[in-house]
Amino acid sequence: MTRKSSAGWGLSALPRIARGEGSYLYDSTGRRYLDGSGGPAAFSIGHGNREVNAAIAAQLERVACGYRYLFTSEPLEELTSLLLRLCGPEFGHIVYSGSGSEAVESALKVALQYWDARGMADRKHFIARERSYHGNTLGALSVSGFLERRRPFAGSLLDVSFVSAANSYRPLGGLAGAALTEALAQELEKKIEALGAGRVAAFIFEPVVGAAGGAVPAPEGYARAVQAVCARHGVLMIADEVMCGSGRCGTWRALEHDATVPDIMAVGKGLAGGYIPLAATIVRRELADTILAEQGAVLTGHTYSGHTTACAAALAVQRIMQREGLVARVRERGAVLLAQLQGALGRFRQVGDVRGRGYLIGIEFVRDRATRGPLPPERAFAQALGQRAFADGLIIYPCAGNVGGTAGDTVIVAPPYNASEAELAELVDKLTRAIERTLTGG
Ligand SMILES: Cc1ncc(COP(=O)(O)O)c(C=O)c1O
Repeated sequence: MTRKSSAGWGLSALPRIARGEGSYLYDSTGRRYLDGSGGPAAFSIGHGNREVNAAIAAQLERVACGYRYLFTSEPLEELTSLLLRLCGPEFGHIVYSGSGSEAVESALKVALQYWDARGMADRKHFIARERSYHGNTLGALSVSGFLERRRPFAGSLLDVSFVSAANSYRPLGGLAGAALTEALAQELEKKIEALGAGRVAAFIFEPVVGAAGGAVPAPEGYARAVQAVCARHGVLMIADEVMCGSGRCGTWRALEHDATVPDIMAVGKGLAGGYIPLAATIVRRELADTILAEQGAVLTGHTYSGHTTACAAALAVQRIMQREGLVARVRERGAVLLAQLQGALGRFRQVGDVRGRGYLIGIEFVRDRATRGPLPPERAFAQALGQRAFADGLIIYPCAGNVGGTAGDTVIVAPPYNASEAELAELVDKLTRAIERTLTGG
């Protein structure tokens, strides 16, 4: 069965946003909401930050935007060198855009252009994973294993091959640990061989799955194992870090945790923390050099790529993250928050799994802990819980369909990196009460 889209809960029912301050948002009636998920894991340093707002205002006073083919700018240059420093010496080129979808779209195009520049234009095919989300533009949606969001567009999407999700709670073949990692890597290798390596451009995956799975980190060693497979067959590896990157998982690049460097990486959301839309496709030096040497330009980007004021906003956000050591805080405090949530929610027999990394934590609800069977889809539990929490002044991110595309209920908790101890305690407390009330219908 299909169930109603989980995107929002009806415009007419939405309150009007009035202002934001730190970890709180306020609507026009004065009602206060604790931002427990950054909306969809976007608001990395909270709301209404004066320093970021001042940087934006100062930039607007000078000039809003210098068009990318006519000018460079100080914020663009400084942001680029900061991001390349944060990402590591392997990376050498950045394509800016306005959304995670565009950043993924550019990642796919950079891969295709690289193979064209190398004289291997037959490498056109992408491999992605089931239960994944990479964006809403047609290319990014094509590589997304997200039934609910793909269904109306079936037939118009790219022909993409899918391999299993890397999910320790719902594992391929019931395997665990190293055996699971090995099986997933083998599955990818077989897929590449079946397609013919000479036809495959890239493999794309989220190091920690966001909306499509409810914050699912891959099993230990997974990223290194799939990278070895890709390397054996000359297939590029694209990491979609739009949700899990920019510090959200406690390292600036999510794959730092796995000691792995992808060929191309997409970031967005926390990069500019929601102050102004900005996303980026970050490309290994050798790929960019090949494209530039052979074809003169990376053929992707948009009118507002590298928008000057968006870069000024992101630069201010990133400087605050650096100065206040927020990525390290997420790494250390994230493990505590996970343990606190596991402790508080363990008493609900419908809570099957509490997992995640850093400040990207997923809670999965089940009918039965032993079988891990999902709740009946028609109950739309995650949506109901999201609404309950919202009505009680807590923002969390409900996700549905992580079991077979139509069943499955999860919520994501993803607070601002600089949320205080008291705010995190309030988050755990409010979420526990919202779950209790949703389960009991109270
Ligand atoms: C992993 C991932 N990739 C891409 C996107 C698309 O980003 P956007 O909504 O900014 O286009 C998202 C959005 O949720 C995401 O979570």
